[in-house]
Amino acid sequence: GKNVLGLEYFSADEIELVLQTAKEMKNIIKRDIKKVPTLRGKAIVNLFYEPSTRTRSSFELAGKYLGADVINITAGSSSIVKGESLRDTLLTVEDMGIDAIVMRHKAEGAPEYATKVVKAAIVNAGDGAHAHPSQGLLDLFTIRQYKGGFKGIKCAIIGDILHSRVARSDIWGMRKMGIEVHLAGPKTLIPRFLYKEKGIFIHDRIEDAIENADVINVLRIQLERQKSGLFPSTREYARIFGLNDKRLALAKKDVLVMHPGPMNKGWEISPKVAYSSNSVIQEQVKNGVAVRMAILTLILTGGKGNEVIA
Ligand code: CP
Repeated sequence: GKNVLGLEYFSADEIELVLQTAKEMKNIIKRDIKKVPTLRGKAIVNLFYEPSTRTRSSFELAGKYLGADVINITAGSSSIVKGESLRDTLLTVEDMGIDAIVMRHKAEGAPEYATKVVKAAIVNAGDGAHAHPSQGLLDLFTIRQYKGGFKGIKCAIIGDILHSRVARSDIWGMRKMGIEVHLAGPKTLIPRFLYKEKGIFIHDRIEDAIENADVINVLRIQLERQKSGLFPSTREYARIFGLNDKRLALAKKDVLVMHPGPMNKGWEISPKVAYSSNSVIQEQVKNGVAVRMAILTLILTGGKGNEVIA
């Protein structure tokens, strides 16, 4: 298919194809003139029902570097405010001759629904707590850039796993590539089904999850998705699960500190750790553009021999 809905639908070979293509794209971004004609004549819309800084602007830049025409529709400044339905919004966009829709929505499954409404390629840019596949891919790309590969890598993912689409995409992507995943967070924020998954280890204490880790991925506390308020409070959370200097010392010396952004500095991560030499948070943002260029190229040109992305 030509859609990118979630990494659970990707094979290891398909992930590999995206990462290899992203490497070529990163070389294009390093040039003085970043523009190539790969997607000239194609039209892409960013359709965002939820706020975004990184994902929306990096998909826009990615499309523009590849020569496509890119437009943005954000819920608050569109006819969605007047009550236009998702279905009618998708059909309206399709009528303009769009080739790909990059979509963020608060409802899990909204991008999959879109594949049934329009013929354009659909890229999930985050749907509720379900998936954020381009983030999962850029996280894998960043890990390989620094670690050379995935074999024998131990990654700790810390925080609110339950509400995190980033965690879900990271977990499925990392497991497919052979990374050992260790999770820690408030017990109520770790989904029960993960306890039964092979290669996933769940810890009560952050200290146990990050001991000897090669990578620590710190998740954002998502107050907007926690219907009954945060438990524990942000202050307690920082004390029990926050990544600080003392805890960082438990991991390997060359551990990578990652965070999808935006950060709540002082809550889930201390400012010192966020800007430490172990932090690759800014490189993640940089890699996001290359990985999104790879995704758009593969879905809109069929890749190098019509390899598919689920
Ligand atoms: N990581 C991420 O998805 O950031 P934005 O919400 O700013 O796009």
